[in-house]
This record gives sequence, structure tokens and C-alpha cells, in this order.
Amino acid sequence: METNPNRDEMRELLCDAIRSDTFRRATFAGTTRGVACEWVRVVVRPVALRGSRHLQFAYQGAKKVITKNFTLEECETPIDELISFGFAAIHITTQTEEIDIRTSRRGKVHIGRGTVAESPVSEAPAEVEPHNRVKDVPLPEGRADRLLEVMGIATADGRVRPTMRAKFTQINEFLKQLQHVLDDASIRELDREAIILDCGCGSSYLTLAAHHYLNDKLGIPTRILGVDVNEEVIRKSIERAEQLSANGLLFECRRIGTVDVKADIVFALHACDTATDDAIAQAVRSEARLLLSVPCCHHDLNRSLRADGPSDVLRPVLRHGIMRERTADLLTDAFRALSLRIMGYRTDIVEFLATEHTPRNLMIRAVRGLPAGGEIHIREYQEMKRFWNVTPYIEKVLGEPFQKFLKATS
Ligand SMILES: C[S@@+](CC[C@H](N)C(=O)[O-])C[C@H]1O[C@@H](n2cnc3c(N)ncnc32)[C@H](O)[C@@H]1O
Repeated sequence: METNPNRDEMRELLCDAIRSDTFRRATFAGTTRGVACEWVRVVVRPVALRGSRHLQFAYQGAKKVITKNFTLEECETPIDELISFGFAAIHITTQTEEIDIRTSRRGKVHIGRGTVAESPVSEAPAEVEPHNRVKDVPLPEGRADRLLEVMGIATADGRVRPTMRAKFTQINEFLKQLQHVLDDASIRELDREAIILDCGCGSSYLTLAAHHYLNDKLGIPTRILGVDVNEEVIRKSIERAEQLSANGLLFECRRIGTVDVKADIVFALHACDTATDDAIAQAVRSEARLLLSVPCCHHDLNRSLRADGPSDVLRPVLRHGIMRERTADLLTDAFRALSLRIMGYRTDIVEFLATEHTPRNLMIRAVRGLPAGGEIHIREYQEMKRFWNVTPYIEKVLGEPFQKFLKATS
């Protein structure tokens, strides 16, 4: 056991071990006093990338995992970064040695080393995909995909156009969320094609991508109807669908809420303001099995929140426009989630994209199948209304069936 090596010695030990041919794995975890780090754990392992040895760093945070690959020459910078995060416990395994680096809360470093019996066969690093971003995505880059090409997101050989990177990420994240709950909503068990309604489909990137993903990648027969009030985007979407010669892709210039379709799944990606509520109500009315909604701007409740209202104690928050706006955003989505729960949906609100991509980054994910009503939820809803002295738009648009629950518990 070596005690209190200096930082340079520790760095040298780490770099040598991680770059050696015998390296298998290093784990960084635990916090030391006074150092804040967004990663809970980082795992480094060797991988083969187009046949050459690289190092893969998997950063695990509370809500996300990011993987980055580096050549042996490039890896000093990320190792230095890991050292700066001040992890309390570092464990390195090579084919011949186990190395433990522990940093106490007082900052003392202890290094323990022990030999391991060498395995008879040296392990070759696993082959991975050739890109530093998250690989496990529904529509991966780096290989030709006609849909991504027609949408102008990727080139014919599968390279994502720099200007379309944000859209590409957004679509993949949405599809990942969809994939996550497909089985909860028993979509694969339908003995007919699944019907999706995309509310406020805009230029239909998501509509086309979801159609492609479900039909061509997952083999789930799916028909999708995209609706939007904007005639021009609907015209372009129809053109794109024709270009793709895809069956079961329909577009209509309609207002959300006026569409007569019994959808199994309802999407609303950044449907403006109360259009999100209209989409939620449409999903509830048609008893959709699944709703995925990423709300956009929230103006309605913001207009009725008053700094001098009964929630008087919050005046220091509500008197500032930006804070009132954010409070209204959170409240609006809380009312939406609660009303969906009352209408029989298991609902959660999850982070859709990291805030650096978009500030509109909450997703309401609701799967039908719980008993509607529920005194606790109705009381929570009524209490929240009373406290804030507001009537959320979702309540109006859910109409009589929702009102019945409220009246029964008032
Ligand atoms: C911010 S865009 C989002 C488009 C698309 N979902 C996306 O994320 O790429 C919002 C779209 O919703 C449409 N929209 C807003 N209110 C609507 C309503 N009540 N009914 C139908 N479409 C609506 C707008 O015309 C616009 O195309």
C-alpha cells in the first residue's frame, strides 16, 4: 500500500495502466468533499473501432449516460478531466493487476495494488460503432437511410448534416421514449395496425421518422395521421410522403381536437400553448393507449397567475416576469399530468432532451390502464387549484367526464 502519492504520480499511474495492452477496465465513483461532479460513475474500457484499439469512456449521470471514444494518444485529456472531478474510489483492472486508488474525505490518497492470476486467453476489446455520440439510438447515423436522406437530415451515405444535428437528436430521443413504453401500452399486441395521431406535426420530421421506425425497424404495422393548422407544412409533408412512397402516412390541415380518429397513440411535439391540452383531450376522448407530449410555450396559466392573489406568500417569486413564467410552466404541466392520472393514465414527466438542446425539455408520458378517478388525485387537483386560484385550460377541454370526477369529490 502506498500512501499520499502526489497528483503527478497518480496521473502517471492511471495513464500507464489505461493505455497498457493488458488494460481491461477502470471505474471511477464516489465523491470527495467540496467537489461537485455531474457524473455518478465513469467506466473506461478498451474497445476496437474499425479494428484499432480505442478507449471508451462511459459517463453515467443521474439521468443520462454519455459514451465517448478516444484513441490512446487522445486519452490523456479525458483522464485529466476525470482526476479533476475528484472521485473518491478508482479501481483499475488489468490482466495482471488490480489497482485501488482511494481518496479520503481529508484528501489523503492511498494506492493499493495486488496481482491477479493472468487469464490464459488475452481478451480482445469489443468492436463498437464508429462515433463518439450515444450509439444505441432508434435511427442511427453512419449508415445509409433513405428516410433521413429525404428529410434532409443525413447525406446519402448516412452522415448527419451539421445543421440538422439538433433535429436528428430530437427525433431519436422522442423515438427512444416511444420505444420505452410501447410494451407498457401493449402496442405490439394489437391484432391490427397501430394508429398514431401526430398533433401539430409541423414539417413532419417526427411523423415520418416514427412511421419508418415502427414499420421498417420494429416491424409494427402502423398508420400515422399528421395534423396541423398550417396549410403550407401539410402540403410539404404530403410531398415528402409521396417521395418516400410510404403507405399509411396521411396528412390533414386540421385543428387539433377536430379530428375524428380513434388513435392508439397520440404525439404532440412542441404543440403551441393550449394546443398541447387539445392534444391531451383528444387522446383521452379516443381512449388512446399512449400519449407522448413535449409541451411548448405555456401562456394560458401565466396570464391568470397573480402576484397579489391568494398565493400571496409567493409574491416575491411571482412579481418577476421570468419566474412567474417558469412557475406557470411547471404548474401547467403538473395540472396536465394530474388530470391525465384522474382520467386513468399512468403518467410521468421525464426529461426529454438535456437543457443545452432546448429549454422546452419536459415530456409528459402517459399510458392508459389505471382506474379513472381516485380521490387522492382529485383532492390534490382541487387543492392546487384553490391555492393558485386558477382554472387550468386542460380542465375546460377535458369537459364533462372530467367535471364529473371533480364534482363527485367536492
Ligand atoms: C413548434 S411547431 C412543432 C412542429 C413539430 N411537431 C415539430 O416538433 O417539429 C408547432 C406546430 O403546431 C401547429 N399548431 C399550433 N396550434 C395548433 C392547433 N390548434 N391545431 C393544429 N396545429 C397547431 C403549428 O402550426 C406548428 O406547425
